[in-house]
Amino acid sequence: METVATVLRKPSSVPRRLRAVLSLEDFEHRARRLLPKSIYGYVSGGVETDASLRANRDVFDKIAFQPRVLRDVSARNSTTRLFGDTFALPFGIAPMGFSALVAYDGDVTLARGAAACGSFAICSAASLTPLERVAREGGSRWFQAYVPGDEDRIGALLQRVTRAGFDHLVVTADAPTAGNRENNARNGFDAPFRITPQLAWQGITHPRWTIGTLGREMMTRGMPHFENMEAVQGPPLFSKTVTRSTIARDRLNWDHIRFIRAAWAGKLILKGILHPEDARRAQALGCDGIIVSNHGGRQLDFTLPPLDALPSIRKAVPDMVVMLDSGIRRGTDVLKAIMLGADFVFIGRPFLYAAATNGVAGVTHAMELLASEVNRNMAFLGITNPRDLREIPPRWL
Ligand code: FNR
Repeated sequence: METVATVLRKPSSVPRRLRAVLSLEDFEHRARRLLPKSIYGYVSGGVETDASLRANRDVFDKIAFQPRVLRDVSARNSTTRLFGDTFALPFGIAPMGFSALVAYDGDVTLARGAAACGSFAICSAASLTPLERVAREGGSRWFQAYVPGDEDRIGALLQRVTRAGFDHLVVTADAPTAGNRENNARNGFDAPFRITPQLAWQGITHPRWTIGTLGREMMTRGMPHFENMEAVQGPPLFSKTVTRSTIARDRLNWDHIRFIRAAWAGKLILKGILHPEDARRAQALGCDGIIVSNHGGRQLDFTLPPLDALPSIRKAVPDMVVMLDSGIRRGTDVLKAIMLGADFVFIGRPFLYAAATNGVAGVTHAMELLASEVNRNMAFLGITNPRDLREIPPRWL
């Protein structure tokens, strides 16, 4: 396990090509240049008016710190215990579908980069890399499932996930149907996927991505398929039958969670919780944890930002593991989420941009940037571990 000291490298040891990347936001600028409009839009976008997406960021501006001074903060560390494991950092990488289309070998790259810094990435159900390979080559132990509302299919999927060595199952609950991502439709990136003149032109005008990511991926592993939606391999990405993968997800309900709890021996986590009653229900059914999330603003527009929802959820389930994602970009954001009750947080888009532009080195650099922001800010706040923030009441502006 890496320690915080090894995660925080000296600036001189940062590879030259990454020295100009000073914050997570800087990776987005690079990715925007590298990626075809359709792929960049797929990652960066929200739904409909993008109100959820904007609110996810704006809510962090509403909280201020009231620091304490002249405390010895030389023994700072941000090691975090989660379900009995110790991580060097209080944050990890959220599950993201299609990563291998955005970054070369994206799923394994994210997992390796996170592990190198003493954290982890959650493997996505919508990924184009077989979950077995993400476990084997990336060391991943957390799998996110889009479970179909059908017990036989759920049972078969769980057996596959267990066989691969995963022992943390994240069930995404906020995706009964696909979000209305108009930008995908406008950019020609929409199921069923077809290579249109619009997409072909984007490929021609972004040769670095076309050759270095798509071309390399297809040369190495052939046509990408939906690999992890069910117990067996799904359809190829460019296929008229691709919508099959989402069938029956809108039947998913609490009875299925009860079924999964009985069938799954590992840790069970529900992702996409925004209401305290749902958090209570998850706990009553034996779930081990929840991720307070609005899917990064990619499902329902105008949801409560997860950070806003967090305090009442924490109050409803004081002894449950409560995690959060959506909108975190800075060390101060990580600390604010922990201050309001999160045990751990996840970040999505910036790590995918880091993987797309700079591979594993990009992911570790992104991890180190965020780790150093957390570390520096703890000193300013007069604390030695992020959990000390629980004793400091937040100031809402
Ligand atoms: C996602 N997200 C997501 N969530 C999930 O449960 N399964 C998935 O397959 C995906 N796929 C996915 C793809 C992409 C490109 C993005 C950006 C997001 C949502 C993700 O896990 C997480 O909730 C958000 O990304 C967190 O918000 P930020 O950090 O991106 O603002």
